[in-house]
Amino acid sequence: MAMAARSAGAAARPTLPVMRTVADLRRAVAAWRAAGQTVGLVPTMGALHAGHLALVRRAQADCDRTIVTLFVNPTQFGAGEDFAAYPRDEAEDGTKLAAVGADLLFAPEVAEMYPDGFATTVTVAGLTDGLCGPARPGHFAGVATVVTKLLLQSLPDAAYFGEKDYQQLLVIRRLARDLDIPVRIEGVPTVRDADGLALSSRNRYLSAGERAAAVALPMILRHVAERLADPTRVVADETARARDALLQAGFTRIDYVEVCDAETLEPLAHVTRPARVLAAAWLGSTRLIDNMPVSSA
Ligand code: PAJ
Repeated sequence: MAMAARSAGAAARPTLPVMRTVADLRRAVAAWRAAGQTVGLVPTMGALHAGHLALVRRAQADCDRTIVTLFVNPTQFGAGEDFAAYPRDEAEDGTKLAAVGADLLFAPEVAEMYPDGFATTVTVAGLTDGLCGPARPGHFAGVATVVTKLLLQSLPDAAYFGEKDYQQLLVIRRLARDLDIPVRIEGVPTVRDADGLALSSRNRYLSAGERAAAVALPMILRHVAERLADPTRVVADETARARDALLQAGFTRIDYVEVCDAETLEPLAHVTRPARVLAAAWLGSTRLIDNMPVSSA
């Protein structure tokens, strides 16, 4: 049957099963489990780029089957944020995922994830107190709740998240440990454009002038990371200089430039243990985030 279809040319285009309900997703995973296969999960909000696809490839390298989820999660967007405008193109995303050979796309409607009467929220204390937490009230509770649901719906062996959203990665690691969800949470290094700008679905909001200015963010963070490899240097001096440099480069507002312990996100005064330099800054109406490791001497 498959042979006949292939010889007729009908199977030339790779296809990707799309599921809308938790029940269908669970049936597919159960069939793979019954065949003794391992499962990797890659949660996304779509508008897929090479950063997302790097997560998919990593899942495929580790696991027999890879599920990608596409859900623009309303509960992680604040009032006045870009939920309505967030780029949505499921057909294009499906084509990209089929091309890389993902096994299943789970793309539920909002009512499937948050049925009437939904009343439960997962919050992770401590890790969400600083950095993007204060700037985006409710954001991490929205992320933690939806990721907890996705993990419990699919019960994968491993789930893959980008270091691009470093605070999010640590929050998800924490909730999986704290709630005894039997899954490995794997971090994947940030994929960047040739000039160093971290790929992001939101980069498409940038005008040509803003896109040219945006490259200052990774350049300045790299400079801070290099200087702070010397543990005698004072973090506050370097981050103050970085803020000035970002404004000089055309950034219009800075939410934070900080250097934090790489595991706890506790702010550091000197880099004497593994650390991360993290920043969020605005170019007009677009908020960009980025971060890099600082290796202690
Ligand atoms: P989204 O922004 O679509 O990102 C999905 C995943 O891709 C996240 O783990 C993110 O860190 C990763 N990612 C984004 N840009 C990347 C890059 N340049 N390099 C490597 N990885 C990158 O993050 C979310 O969606 C949502 O908060 C989600 C976790 C899906 C929960 O709704």
